[in-house]
Amino acid sequence: MNKKYRKAIIAGNWKMNMLPTEVKPFTEELRPLLPRQKTCEVALCVPHTHISPLRRSLKDSRIAVGAEDVSVHDKGAFTGEVAADMLADLGVHYVIVGHSERRANHAENDFMVGAKAAAVLEKGMNPIICVGETLEQRERGLTMEHIGYQVLAALSAVPDEKVRQCVIAYEPIWAIGTGKTATPEEAEEVCEGIRAIIRSRHGARVARSVSILYGGSMNAKKAKELLSMPDIDGGIIGGASLKPADFAKIIDAVAEVSEED
Ligand code: 13P
Repeated sequence: MNKKYRKAIIAGNWKMNMLPTEVKPFTEELRPLLPRQKTCEVALCVPHTHISPLRRSLKDSRIAVGAEDVSVHDKGAFTGEVAADMLADLGVHYVIVGHSERRANHAENDFMVGAKAAAVLEKGMNPIICVGETLEQRERGLTMEHIGYQVLAALSAVPDEKVRQCVIAYEPIWAIGTGKTATPEEAEEVCEGIRAIIRSRHGARVARSVSILYGGSMNAKKAKELLSMPDIDGGIIGGASLKPADFAKIIDAVAEVSEED
């Protein structure tokens, strides 16, 4: 399927790393390393405390600001929560929802992930909806069944006309932070399956315009092969997004892939 209908996206996910005061030095190091020509959308998803410093440091830059999570609630007595309109008000473009670390450590279920995606869209931002299987599910041959359920459950909360504004991130849990990157074929098989599920539910036009990213120990060495696959439109990068040079090399890989096309 033709990639021209969708955005290539490289999104960093800093998780709970770095300090707000480290944001400026990071972006000062990163910015000169980026390709002059825009070949993909670059986003940095950071802890809520880092959003304002990041926004300031990225003034006049084409790097988009992202958040790592959002509340399902609009406002009110929810101590410690951060609502979608608060993020939108800070200039956030992308919000990660349903990361496996939140599903596992904060008991987030598919219903909540869908509600978060809908809240993000309602405030004019783009959700990055994370899905992925455990090693046990993979070994038992349950990968696509599990992921299909996660995708459909999240998208069922999203109004039909907004599905194309969602980004899906396939992050096999066994690959996250382990150094065990999925092979391009393994990642493509699932990303292709995700697109087929979206096609069957929302039609070919929507399916061809949804960006599907791969995440899980993606690094500069592995990026190009992964990004060359027909249904992988970008990456969501944890560890390697904490080092400007490594992150920039992954962004360069998008340019290399598009030159070869
Ligand atoms: P790593 O790149 O550190 O494996 O993390 C991936 C991830 O969880 C991105 O959301």
